[in-house]
Amino acid sequence: MDVYGCVHSFFKQIRMHLQAFINTFQIGGIFILNFLFVINADYRVGIGISDITGPIGQIGFLGYGNPFQKGSGLHLRQYARAFVIKKDLQCVAFVSIDTTMTGFGLRKQVLSTLQKNYGSLYNDQNFVISATHTHCVPGGFMMDLLYDLPSFGFVQETFDSLHNGIVQAVIKAHNSIQDANIFVTKGTILNVNVNRSPLAYLLNPKTERDKYSYDVDKELTQLKFIASPSNKLLGVLHWFPVHPTSMNNTNRLVSSDNVGYASILFEQHFNKDTPIGNGPFVAAFASSNLGDVSPNIKGPICISTGNPCDDVTSTCDGKSQHCIASGPGIDMFESTKIIGEKLFKKGLELLHSNQSREIDGPLEYRHRYVNMPIQVANFTYPNGTETKVRGCLSAMGYAFAAGTTDGPGAFNFKQGSKTQNPMWNFIRNLVAEPTKDDIACHYPKPIFLTTGRIKVPYRWQPQTVSIQIILLGDVAIASVPGEFTTMAGRRLKQTIATTVATYSKLSTKDVVIAGLSNIYSSYIATPEEYELQRYEAASTIFGPHTLTIYLNVYNNLIKSMLNGEPLDTDPEPEDISNKVLSFALPVWFDLPLVGYRFGDCRVQPPSTAKRGTTVSAIFVSGNPRNNLMRGKTFLTIERWIKEKWVVVATDSNWETKFIWKNVFFISAYSQATIEWYIDKNIPIGIYRICHFGHYKSLNGEIIPYIGATRKFNVV
Ligand SMILES: *[C@@H]1O[C@H](CO)[C@@H](O)[C@H](O)[C@H]1NC(C)=O
Ligand SMILES: *[C@@H]1O[C@H](CO)[C@@H](O)[C@H](O)[C@H]1NC(C)=O
Ligand SMILES: *[C@@H]1O[C@H](CO)[C@@H](O)[C@H](O)[C@H]1NC(C)=O
Ligand SMILES: *[C@@H]1O[C@H](CO)[C@@H](O)[C@H](O)[C@H]1NC(C)=O
Repeated sequence: MDVYGCVHSFFKQIRMHLQAFINTFQIGGIFILNFLFVINADYRVGIGISDITGPIGQIGFLGYGNPFQKGSGLHLRQYARAFVIKKDLQCVAFVSIDTTMTGFGLRKQVLSTLQKNYGSLYNDQNFVISATHTHCVPGGFMMDLLYDLPSFGFVQETFDSLHNGIVQAVIKAHNSIQDANIFVTKGTILNVNVNRSPLAYLLNPKTERDKYSYDVDKELTQLKFIASPSNKLLGVLHWFPVHPTSMNNTNRLVSSDNVGYASILFEQHFNKDTPIGNGPFVAAFASSNLGDVSPNIKGPICISTGNPCDDVTSTCDGKSQHCIASGPGIDMFESTKIIGEKLFKKGLELLHSNQSREIDGPLEYRHRYVNMPIQVANFTYPNGTETKVRGCLSAMGYAFAAGTTDGPGAFNFKQGSKTQNPMWNFIRNLVAEPTKDDIACHYPKPIFLTTGRIKVPYRWQPQTVSIQIILLGDVAIASVPGEFTTMAGRRLKQTIATTVATYSKLSTKDVVIAGLSNIYSSYIATPEEYELQRYEAASTIFGPHTLTIYLNVYNNLIKSMLNGEPLDTDPEPEDISNKVLSFALPVWFDLPLVGYRFGDCRVQPPSTAKRGTTVSAIFVSGNPRNNLMRGKTFLTIERWIKEKWVVVATDSNWETKFIWKNVFFISAYSQATIEWYIDKNIPIGIYRICHFGHYKSLNGEIIPYIGATRKFNVV
């Protein structure tokens, strides 16, 4: 018998009881937790954060696929939040990024840069990039053409800020690694998410649905990382399924949306006066099985009449553009704030909860590439009949073009439609005609885009995806290459729990889905949901049995990992980074308005402003793409204290908005409006607003400038 292990676990028991006891008396219990007996930490943990904000002007947003939704300013900066965990010789890195999705090319480039510093420490097997899925951020970094269409192809600036920021976050995490203990806590959050395709969910078997209270998952899972022996709180990593689509497709300001705001609130709570994105404490809200999950909890209505929309098609008078979901706030900003605050408050409550469980045990992981169209799997109908099913070459269905009630598409497309339109089919066939076999394979999905067959100018959607599993003690984390719907995610979690229990001594207590990880291949609905062809089903690109195949390959992945057997894998996707095309226009040059210099304040704030109101100032500006100000700020709000200006807010703060636009519709002339909502808790005093930017001169030089308003009183 292992005497040391026995003593260790004895003390651990005592410590856990003590912690429960102290936490019962609340108020930062975990910080004052320190013991007479020193216990070895279980893990080594490093955490880092870095700015990844891309070009905030002129580049199409990736998310709603709305060609008119181009950036023209900034509300909340985008960040990468990296968590490195080591146990004995094993190591994993998990990076949550405030962007829409992530692609093979980005991950490959990040790994290749990291390998220059660290050899093969971070590799395909142990490295996860998971996107939060915010929809209001610049695109152009995916390479697979369908996902780069809204930004008119590849945008080097977006790619570089993501790449550089992710690498920096991982380096920070790597350099801060220290002994730590990890705890897992779970809690239910009501009134932050609803199912946006409830009729599709209802097609899942009743016996299965009866096992769950809701048609979306409402559980927040939190990992908290506590340094040992100091018991300093290092950071928290959450998973919760909700689309970051509180900001809708009319918004033009770059934003990390509801989950990004929850992270910022959490970080401000512990980092106090440190500017956002710079403090030591890091809080991530990573994505999960959010495929059919909307934050717009008032649900969809017909915007013209206020009546309910048609259930199956989500249309009003046949138009999807008139059926829109919103809420809970009066506008999209308030909705984002309310959802973000609820996530943050629950996270904070879990942090102090006495229900947390310390994680103990080995760290294991495995990753493989899966060529989806060549996969076969066995599928059992509810009546017990077993049949062999296969994957299809990727294709998007008609309802993909309809969009969702969070952001409808253009033209006359409807969700839940299995009918086709000869004109669109004609256009589709000019691009790439589906074969009879494609049509049969995807049935009942009517094919709108045969993406798997389009070869020009290069790949449109991946055919080979990434699957990955991490076992952190008794917590399993499944990185998935897309958006699993609620029930698809539940089935995967169930399969993982069963497989781990079968092949390991350890039983898995918690399974989380890490959504939109490593490669993006749109949606994964259940075969039953697929029948209705709502947006999620139309975007389930490898056919009706996409999920059946995933259940099979994850099962084999875990089995091989736990049995220590060699890995069955497919070749990695083709690297198309040298083929990508860019059509986004460059910045030509900037000119100041006649009689002004760059940085001049054209419209001053009032000399006195009341707390609880918003002040604004307008500056003569250059194009913000001249210098993305990554890790810096386009603005500061400064207070005059003790004979000097002290920064009280930057462009990352909720209270500020940086709104940039061309003047007279001429691209050379532009202006920046800076808005500051003066919170009721702001101390009265003397303030000013500053703007930092760069302009491009006629000979192509990039020149920095600074501007400031006059002083004003806040009362
Ligand atoms: C977006 O939200 C704004 C309120 O902030 C609302 O006026 C507008 O109708 C919404 N539009 C869509 C398409 O959701
Ligand atoms: C945990 O806290 C709840 C209330 O916050 C209390 O009812 C419960 O008894 C506590 N459990 C333990 C084990 O201390
Ligand atoms: C499907 O089932 C058959 C017979 O039960 C089995 O031989 C085969 O290996 C299974 N295929 C897969 C992909 O699991
Ligand atoms: C079971 O259900 C499937 C799909 O509905 C059907 O094709 C099959 O014939 C059924 N088998 C039996 C034995 O009823």
